[in-house]
Amino acid sequence: MSPAINSLGLDDVVAAETVLSHVDGEAGRLIIRGYDLDELAGRWSYEAVAGLLWSGFAPEDGEAAVRAALGRARVAAFDTALALLPQAKALSPVEGLRLLLAALPDASPVPAHVLATAAVPVFAAAIVRQGRGLAPVPPDATLGQAEDFLRMVRGEAVPAAHARALDIYMVTVIDHGLNASTFAARVVAATRAGMASSVVAGLCALKGPLHGGAPGPVLDMFDAIGTEAAAGAWLGDALDRGERLMGFGHRVYKVRDPRADVLKTVAASLKGGGNRVRLAEAVEAAALDLLKARKQTKPLQTNVEFYTALVLEALELPREAFTAVFAAGRVAGWAAHVMEQEQTGRLIRPQSRYVGPLPRRAA
Ligand code: ACO
Repeated sequence: MSPAINSLGLDDVVAAETVLSHVDGEAGRLIIRGYDLDELAGRWSYEAVAGLLWSGFAPEDGEAAVRAALGRARVAAFDTALALLPQAKALSPVEGLRLLLAALPDASPVPAHVLATAAVPVFAAAIVRQGRGLAPVPPDATLGQAEDFLRMVRGEAVPAAHARALDIYMVTVIDHGLNASTFAARVVAATRAGMASSVVAGLCALKGPLHGGAPGPVLDMFDAIGTEAAAGAWLGDALDRGERLMGFGHRVYKVRDPRADVLKTVAASLKGGGNRVRLAEAVEAAALDLLKARKQTKPLQTNVEFYTALVLEALELPREAFTAVFAAGRVAGWAAHVMEQEQTGRLIRPQSRYVGPLPRRAA
C-alpha cells in the first residue's frame, strides 16, 4: 500500500523562540538580532555579525575577538582536513564537507562553536582544491574568514573587492529564522548531542535542492537558456514538464527575498558579472511572469539562491561547491541557534498523526 501524499510542512507553526533573526515574509524583511539586513550588509564584517549572533551565548565579545578566535581555530581545523581529505576524493564537495565535519569532536579545547565555524571554510577550500588536483593551502590566522577562504581556494592573495564581495555574501546568508537547516540543527541540539553533531545535521538539511542546493542548478539553467531572448520559451517548457524553477519561491516570503537585492548589487559590482546580470534579469522577469500566470495558489518570487549563483560564479568558485560555500556563511548562524537551544530550549519532540491501518492479529 503506498502512502497518500500529505501536505504537512509545518507552515506557520512556531517551533522555537529566538533572539537571533526574524523573517517577515509579508514585508520582505530580514532582521538579524535587531538590525535589518540592509543595515549590516556592506557595513559589518562576517566576524562582527557572528559576534552579534553569539553575544550572550559565548564568551567572544566583538569583532576583533571573534576574528582572532576564528583565525586560531582555522589553523586547528586544518590538521583534520589534511588527515581526512583523501577519503573525500570520491565525494561531491558538500558530501566531502559532511565527512570532514563529522570528524570534529563535540567537546574540544577550542570552543565548539568557534571550531565548527572556522572549520567549514577550511574544509570547503581544501575540498575544492583537491577537486582541481591541487594540495590544500594552510589558513592565515591574521585574515578574516571570507578573505582567507578565497585565498585558500585560489592559493594566492585575493583582490580586496573579491574578499569584500564574499564577506557581504556570507553576512547575507548568516542566519534566516527557522529555515530547514537551522531547525534540523536545533532538533539535534535539543537532545544535547553537541555542537558538531548539530552542525552536521544542519549541513545535511542544507544540501537538498529545495534549500541550499539550488544555486548550482541556477547556473545550469542560465547556461541552458543561453540568451536573453530564449528565456521565456525555455522556462515555459520547463514548467510544462512540471519542473520547479530554481531560485524562485519561498515558504515564508510572499514578496521578493531581500537577500536577492543585496546579492544582485554585489554581483553587478564584480568584474565579469555584468553580462550574466543582464541575462539573469531577463530570466527573472520571464520567470516571474510565467509563475504569476501559471501558479496562482501562492505568490512565487525570486529567492536568495538566484543571485547567489551570479556572485559565486563571479568569484570563480566552482558551481558544484556552491552549497559548501553557503554552509561557510550559514554555519555561524547554526552555531548561535545551537547555543541558544542548549541554553534556553527544551527537547523538541512533536507528534505525528497516525493514519495507518488499525491493529490486527499478526497470525
Ligand atoms: N517553480 C515552479 N513552481 C513552484 C516553485 C518553483 N520554484 N516553487 C513552488 N512552486 C509551486 C509548487 O509546484 C506548488 O504548485 P501547485 O500548487 O500547482 O502544486 C506551489 O508552487 C506551492 O509550492 P510548495 O511546494 O507548497 O511551496 P513550499 O513552500 O513547500 O516550497 C520551496 C518552497 C522549496 C523553496 C519551493 O519554492 C522550491 O522548490 N523552489 C525552487 C528551489 C529553490 O529555489 N530553493 C531555494 C530556496 S531558498 C533557501 O532555502 C536558501
